[in-house]
Amino acid sequence: MVSLKRIAVIGSTGSIGRQTLEIIRSFPDRFRVVALAAGKNTILLEEQVNEFKPRYIHFQGNRHDMQGSSFISLQEMMELSDIDTVLMAPAGISGLKPTLWAARAGKRIALANKESLVMAGGIINSEIARSGGKLLPVDSEHSAIWQCLKGEKQAVSGIILTASGGPFAKYSREQLEKVTPEQALKHPSWLMGPKVTVDSATLLNKGLEIIEAHHLFGVNYNDIKVLVHPSSLVHSMVEFKDGTIKAQLSYPDMRFPIQYALTYPQRWSNPNLPRLDWSSIGCLPFAEPDTSLFPCLELARNAGMQGGTYPAVLCGAGEAAVALFLNKHIPFTRIASIIEQVLNEHHPVYQPDIDTIEEEADRAYKRVMLIGTE
Ligand SMILES: NC(=O)c1ccc[n+]([C@@H]2O[C@H](COP(=O)([O-])OP(=O)(O)OC[C@H]3O[C@@H](n4cnc5c(N)ncnc54)[C@H](OP(=O)(O)O)[C@@H]3O)[C@@H](O)[C@H]2O)c1
Repeated sequence: MVSLKRIAVIGSTGSIGRQTLEIIRSFPDRFRVVALAAGKNTILLEEQVNEFKPRYIHFQGNRHDMQGSSFISLQEMMELSDIDTVLMAPAGISGLKPTLWAARAGKRIALANKESLVMAGGIINSEIARSGGKLLPVDSEHSAIWQCLKGEKQAVSGIILTASGGPFAKYSREQLEKVTPEQALKHPSWLMGPKVTVDSATLLNKGLEIIEAHHLFGVNYNDIKVLVHPSSLVHSMVEFKDGTIKAQLSYPDMRFPIQYALTYPQRWSNPNLPRLDWSSIGCLPFAEPDTSLFPCLELARNAGMQGGTYPAVLCGAGEAAVALFLNKHIPFTRIASIIEQVLNEHHPVYQPDIDTIEEEADRAYKRVMLIGTE
C-alpha cells in the first residue's frame, strides 16, 4: 500500500510553488495538500484553495478563512502534526523564520529558499539534527550534488556548481552598464521569480549557492568551484578523491528536482517531464566565470568564508539592490558595488542568534535603500 504524502507548500503562488502544485496534480492519489501559504497574490491562492482544498492557509494581509480553509500563522502551520513534508519556496529573506520553525518541528523540508540556509545554515542544521528533521535540496544544482553523492561513503575532493551564466555572459562592461530590468528578467534557460532571475544575471545567485552547498554538504569553500555551462543540462558535478567525476543531467526544468525532493528516496515515473534527447544535445560547453565583470560571485564566497552575520548582510543588501535596480533607481552594475559597500561597512557579530541575523539582514536592506535613493 502506498502511503499518502501530506504536504505544505510555502510560496504556493510563486514559480517554484506553482511547479510544485503541477507535480502534485500528476499524482492525485499519492499527495495530499494540507496547507498553502502565499504572499500577496490572494486571487491565485483562492484558485489553488478551490482546487486542492487545503485545511489551512496563510497569506500576507488581513487574515480571513477561504472556502472552508482556516487561516493560521506560518509558525502554527510549520508545527502542524498532520504535515510531514514542507516545500519551502517563499521569496528571499522572508524564508528564514518558516525554515527555522519547520526545522525545529522535525519536518522534512524540501528547500528551495536558499537565503534561509545562507543566512543561518549553522542554526538550521543544528535544529534539524536535534529534531530529527531532514533537508531535501530543491535548487537544481544542490539536488544534482545530492544525487551524485548518493551511495558514496568517501569524502569528496570537490564540488563543481554549474551556472547558465545568465543573459549577459558575453557582455562587455559598457554593455552591462546599459542593461535594463526588462533584459535582466529574460533568463535564457529557466523561468523563475524576479529576484532569483536578476541574481542569476549578476551571478549573486551562484554565490548564494556556494554558501548553500557549504551548509548542505559540509564541503570547504575552497573546494567549491563554479563553471559556466550555458546549455544548463549538467546541473552540477562532484569530484571524488580518485579523480572520478559524477554529473547529473536533465533538461532545465525545476519540476525534476521538486519531484525528487517530494518523493525521495523513491523515483516516480512522470510522463509530463521531458526526457533528454541525447542525439540533439551536441557538445556540452563549460567555461570559467568572469569574476571581474560579475564580482557578486566572489563577494558571496568571501561573505560565506567570513561567516557570522556577513551572509545575512549579503542577503539583505542583495534583496534591496535588486529592488532598486528593478525600480530603475540604480544601474545593473551598481548592484554589486552597493552590496560590496554595505559588506565593507558591516561590523560583524559571530555566532549570532536568529533574531540578530534577521536584524542585520534588515539593517543591510535599509542601508542599501538609503544609499540607492540618496
Ligand atoms: N524559480 C526557480 O526556478 C528557483 C530555482 C531554485 C531556487 N529558487 C529559490 O526558491 C525561492 C522562491 O523562488 P521563486 O522563483 O519561486 O520566487 P517567486 O516566483 O518570486 O515566488 C515567491 C513566493 O513567495 C511568496 N512570498 C513572498 N513573501 C512572502 C512571505 N512573507 N511569506 C510567505 N510567502 C511569501 C510569494 O507570494 P505572492 O506571489 O503571493 O506575493 C510567492 O508565492 C527563492 O529563494 C529562490 O532563490 C527558485
